[in-house]
Amino acid sequence: MYDAKKIIPGLIIFALFFTFPFWFNLGTAAYTTPELELPDPEEHEHCIESTEYMRAEHMAMLDEWRDIYVRDGYQEYWSELNQEYFLTSLTKTCMDCHSDKEKFCDRCHEATAVDPYCWDCHIEP
Ligand code: HEC
Ligand code: HEC
Ligand code: HEC
Repeated sequence: MYDAKKIIPGLIIFALFFTFPFWFNLGTAAYTTPELELPDPEEHEHCIESTEYMRAEHMAMLDEWRDIYVRDGYQEYWSELNQEYFLTSLTKTCMDCHSDKEKFCDRCHEATAVDPYCWDCHIEP
């Protein structure tokens, strides 16, 4: 038999746990950025979306790309800004432009005390 007294609080704790990165970060998208090594502007002028958008949303974008991959395999992401399609891939897309992970992703994550566990499995460029 189901025990609602146990299951419901369990579900609430589960929901809070999985949405934690979302509500914990509400209002904190404005962080200071250390000096970053950006792609050569001659080769790439823009990120996939605007700087502000990427700063605030890259985690959600990657999460979504992962879900897309699990559900449908690789898909094309249409960027209005670039008028171009991008493959929904962390290693093949993000890291293709941001090839110096240490001087880009890591530097900012260290400064903001975030440590994405993605590289436990994904191969660093
Ligand atoms: C086509 C090349 C290209 C791709 C692909 C790309 N970026 Fe970028 N990214 C750039 C460039 C150029 C900049 C600096 C100019 C700008 O902000 O648009 C940048 C800026 C950023 C910034 C803001 C840095 C700052 O100054 O605060 C973040 C965060 C970022 N990228 C993350 C990502 C992530 C995550 C992905 C994959 C989902 C990705 N980028 C894919 C070229 C790219
Ligand atoms: C301008 C600073 C900055 C840059 C550059 C940056 N990040 Fe982030 N990233 C953050 C911050 C801050 C967070 C924490 C979440 C938040 O504040 O919303 C984060 C979180 C993440 C997360 C989610 C981690 C988690 O445990 O929730 C992933 C995945 C991620 N970044 C991937 C990347 C990748 C890949 C790159 C390089 C292509 C990159 N980031 C570059 C600032 C940055
Ligand atoms: C336990 C291992 C593991 C961890 C940790 C992990 N992934 Fe993955 N991820 C995979 C595997 C396996 C695939 C399937 C594609 C493959 O075989 O390379 C995948 C696919 C993806 C894809 C679509 C395929 C591609 O080329 O990028 C994205 C996007 C992605 N993961 C993002 C992330 C992000 C962001 C993190 C960190 C927040 C992360 N993953 C952490 C194992 C992992």
